Amino acid sequence: MDARQMKIKAAAEALKHVENGMRLGIGTGSTAEEFVRLLAEKVSEGLEVRGVPTSERTARLCLELGVPLNSLDELPELDLTIDGADEIDASLRLIKGGGGALLREKIVACASKRMIVIADETKVVETLGHFPLPIEVNPFGLAATRIAIDRLAESQGLSGEIHQRKAGEGFYKTDGGHYILDAFFGRISDAEALASSLNAIPGVVEHGLFINLASLAIIAGPTEVRTLAP
Ligand code: A5P
Repeated sequence: MDARQMKIKAAAEALKHVENGMRLGIGTGSTAEEFVRLLAEKVSEGLEVRGVPTSERTARLCLELGVPLNSLDELPELDLTIDGADEIDASLRLIKGGGGALLREKIVACASKRMIVIADETKVVETLGHFPLPIEVNPFGLAATRIAIDRLAESQGLSGEIHQRKAGEGFYKTDGGHYILDAFFGRISDAEALASSLNAIPGVVEHGLFINLASLAIIAGPTEVRTLAP
């Protein structure tokens, strides 16, 4: 079974948690897109849901496939969010933001009663940090924000380069008009401490550590689908 088939399996399992009438947060990335495709099939068969997308990219796919959408302002309280992740540990701490949508993903997940993460088994890790941590920053004062992040990393015993994410000839901009710094910290032994100190830097808009947000992870391997709960 290839990676795409595993993503489809995880997405299909997540779909079983979707009930008629639900207000759904809809994630971003290749795994979330498989979920959107399966959800669209159910919608065409009569399932009634309202979706709140976590990115313009997801919104476009939903509209193309006929999944009804609302903004988070129209539906500020959601029943369930289904989204992918870049890394998942045994306590369901996540790194997200490889697709650049981490701010909206976190806002939508926080507005949801439950968040289910869907992934193939390559995303499960013992300790977070092999995947570079995306940090969304305000363009104003970028150099000062980088210095603050460097100092914070040093104070927490983290090293590794921090690269500003590129897109074509220029720099990647998020749907909200911010930049992304990808921090190659390696093993993050205290994710909670790193998360709260990053949040204390004014130029940091949000970071990709999702802690205490996911209530279930559906992990697809080549032969079976398993679940992880915190
Ligand atoms: C988007 O910003 C990310 O958080 C994605 O959910 C994450 O990168 C997983 O993407 P894939 O499903 O494409 O691996």
